[in-house]
Amino acid sequence: MEIVPMAAEHIPAMEAIEDASFPTSWSRGSFSRELGSAVARYWVGVADGVVVGFAGAWVVLDEVHVTTVAVDPKVRGQRVGRRLMARLLEEAVETGARWAVLEVRESNDAAIKMYQYFGFRQVGVRKKYYENGENALVLWVGNMQQAAFRELLSVL
Ligand SMILES: CC(C)(COP(=O)(O)OP(=O)(O)OC[C@H]1O[C@@H](n2cnc3c(N)ncnc32)[C@H](O)[C@@H]1OP(=O)(O)O)[C@@H](O)C(=O)NCCC(=O)NCCS
Repeated sequence: MEIVPMAAEHIPAMEAIEDASFPTSWSRGSFSRELGSAVARYWVGVADGVVVGFAGAWVVLDEVHVTTVAVDPKVRGQRVGRRLMARLLEEAVETGARWAVLEVRESNDAAIKMYQYFGFRQVGVRKKYYENGENALVLWVGNMQQAAFRELLSVL
């Protein structure tokens, strides 16, 4: 799999993965808007010419806000998600990011475990954040400029 910056040609496949991954998808046009954003950084995993997943974030000064990560259900469990997150965090670190934050459904064990691998830990709860009333856990990781964090990324 190669990991490349999101381009317009990837968007239809990303929307299909989005539909298969989340109960409510981003409104159509969201990825296109992100393409034009100065702070958005989106990475796409492509295997044999096929989009298999993506990860995106807003990077502002030293803060990363991870907005989305999703992998085609057909290829989950093969480290695609972890590698996309690593690429996203690696680029952010290169550009000076020091900490990252995200929201995740409290029932989403797979995603929570993936984020814990990178050192994310719970720092808060947003009550009834999602459309079905589910709470969001707010996860955070700091010290991203430290050697130990960079080493974690380089292993991938
Ligand atoms: C979360 C998601 C992106 C993980 O992608 P993936 O490519 O399947 O995950 P990886 O193979 O890279 O796994 C990385 C780690 O995540 C955890 N993990 C992944 N799938 C898991 C599962 N089904 N159950 C428990 N832990 C899981 C494990 O800790 C795993 O590490 P390990 O292989 O050493 O055990 C994927 O499940 C997905 O697209 N889910 C739907 C969208 C979503 O919920 N996105 C997150 C929104 S906050």
